[in-house]
This record gives sequence, structure tokens and C-alpha cells, in this order.
Amino acid sequence: MSPVALHRNEMPHDIPMELKRRIADKISNVAFNIYPEPFAQSLVVELALWYGCRPEQLMVAPGSSAFIRLLFTHYAIKPQGYIVIARPSFQYYEEYCQAFGIAYSTWELDEHLEFDENQLGKLPEQSMVMFASPNNPTGQSIPLPMLKRLLRRCPQTLFVVDEAYAEFAGNSTLKLINNFSNLIVLRTLSKALSAAGIRCGALIANERTVSELTRLQTPFQVSSLTSQIVKQMLAYDRDVSWVKQQIQKVIKERQLIYETCQALLPPTWYLFQSEANFLLLKCPDHATAKRLVHTCNDHDIAIADLSNLPRLAGCVRITVGLREHNHQFISALTKCLDPTLPDVAFPLPSN
Ligand SMILES: Cc1ncc(COP(=O)(O)O)c(C=O)c1O
Repeated sequence: MSPVALHRNEMPHDIPMELKRRIADKISNVAFNIYPEPFAQSLVVELALWYGCRPEQLMVAPGSSAFIRLLFTHYAIKPQGYIVIARPSFQYYEEYCQAFGIAYSTWELDEHLEFDENQLGKLPEQSMVMFASPNNPTGQSIPLPMLKRLLRRCPQTLFVVDEAYAEFAGNSTLKLINNFSNLIVLRTLSKALSAAGIRCGALIANERTVSELTRLQTPFQVSSLTSQIVKQMLAYDRDVSWVKQQIQKVIKERQLIYETCQALLPPTWYLFQSEANFLLLKCPDHATAKRLVHTCNDHDIAIADLSNLPRLAGCVRITVGLREHNHQFISALTKCLDPTLPDVAFPLPSN
């Protein structure tokens, strides 16, 4: 049996079974022989309602990573294009640029791995700055006043805020879209909406940016099936408000893991506060991080070993899982800290 995946930042719950049944009913009416809408226009209308913007301010793609690729490629081929990527942040940004030979520079987070506007040097006119907020893997968000200052300070720079985990933070930069034409926000249904397998993400920005980027997008990317499934998911939420409940469960588990770890960890370890569905843990050294990863494997849990990445020496990332899997992680951590310690009492699931 493969270990429980607490290394991919997925939701521990699938969508409700009743919703799956509704979807299954609707799918039989989807015509497979015709192309979908070129830019999933009717889904755009629904998602604009969901995110609280106008349809002209939103576009959809198979996951937010499709937009990450589109934006990097666009800026890479712009004659004066200049790409800046926050570091440490979502690994895929740098991996994509490296794979395609795209030049970029980095916006280094400060020594506490927090956003620091002073670390962002002077930017040329055609710059794009990409970062995640809440950041993956630190779990921390950019403070809104800091983002506003940057948007004002660099009006010619496009700031792309990847909000894959915003629902777990309870705040978003989306409200700034109407005031700043140099802001793009990326959202995904892969995290809080438990739909990583369905592949749907949104880009939200001012109308001019959206119409420019739509010209660069490949048509028919979002399948008729994905469109239909997502419409049903949103409609079901209007009936029973299932998404908020799932998010609340994750936030509660996150707090429980945080508090339990804080009580266990000696001062040489550091657990970051998180606004996402994962926690970043800095072990005292590289060897301890490796030992924790192995101990977790022995407890049938896979956690993300980030200890070889720049600025993340000794770090591991743990996705918030179901109560029993979080308990398995705490047991592994306890054994790693001291094999003679007894298992930590963890409350039983309330449902
Ligand atoms: C910060 C961040 N952005 C984007 C993604 C990819 O999301 P999607 O499934 O929408 O492509 C991830 C996936 O882990 C992520 O951590």
C-alpha cells in the first residue's frame, strides 16, 4: 500500500457523493462529438460570480499552472520582458523557466522567509513579478498594504499573485483588481474545492489584460466535461454550502497540528505559522530532516522533503490531512524527536 500523501497539498476529502451523483446525471447530456466553447465562456460567467468579479475580468484554463506557463512564455518572448520569481516559492516557477531556458531573477524572501519589499530591486519597465500568497512552502501571505505600495511604486510592472491557497487564509488580493491595472490574480479549484483531478484554474485581472491574454491562449483548452463538472460544483455549493465546511475542517486540523507540535518541539526546531493547507517545519539540520522523512515513511506517511532546495535547508512540508493521518504524522515526529517518548494523545475525529 502506498503511504498517505501529505506531500502534495491536496485536500484530504473528495467532493460529496451526492454532488458526484448529480454530476454523473448531467454528464450523459454532454455532447462528446462537438468542440467545447473556445474560451469556456459560460463557465467564465459562473466563476466570475463565484470570485466576485465581472466576466470580462476572468479567464479559465486547465489549472492555474496553465496560466503560469502562459505568463512566463509571454514575458520570455517580449523584447524587453524581465521575469522575477519570489524565492523560496512554488518550485514549478523556477523549474518551468529552467526547462525552457527562460531567464529570470529572484525576489529573495527575508531571513524569516517573509515577503520584504526592500529586497525587490529596481525593476525595468516590462517586468513581471510572480509569487504565491499564501506562499508555498512557507504558508505566509503578502501583507495587503505591502502589495499596494508595490503596485503603486511600480506601475509598469505586472504583479502576478498566485492565490492557490487563498481560501485557507480567509483573505485575498482580488479586491484590488478594480484599482490596479498591473495586478493579476491566479486561483485554482485544485485545492480548497477538492478538484485537482478536474483541472480548472482562473486568471483574474483588469479587462484590458484579460482581453490581451485571451488572444495568446489556445482555444478549446477547457473540456466540455470540466465545464459541466465545475458548473455543477458551484451550483451544489449554492444549495448546501459544502466548500466552506471543507475549508473550516482543514483550518481546524491545521491549528491542532500546530499547537501539538509547538508543545513537542525543542527550541532548535521551528514551525512556521501557516495560512494554507500545509505547514513548513524547519528541523535543526539536514540529517534530522531526512530522518523525519524516513520515520514518516515508516508510519505510512509521505511528507515533502524540501531540505535540498535553496533557502530551505532542513525544511519539510506537511499537508494537513484527515485527523487519523495527522495523528500518524505527530506519532512519527514524536519518535523522531526521541524514540523513548510515548505516543502523544490526539483528540478523536468529531465526525
Ligand atoms: C502555489 C501553487 N500554484 C499553483 C499550483 C498548481 O495548481 P493547479 O492544479 O491549478 O495547476 C500549485 C500546486 O501545488 C501551487 O502550490
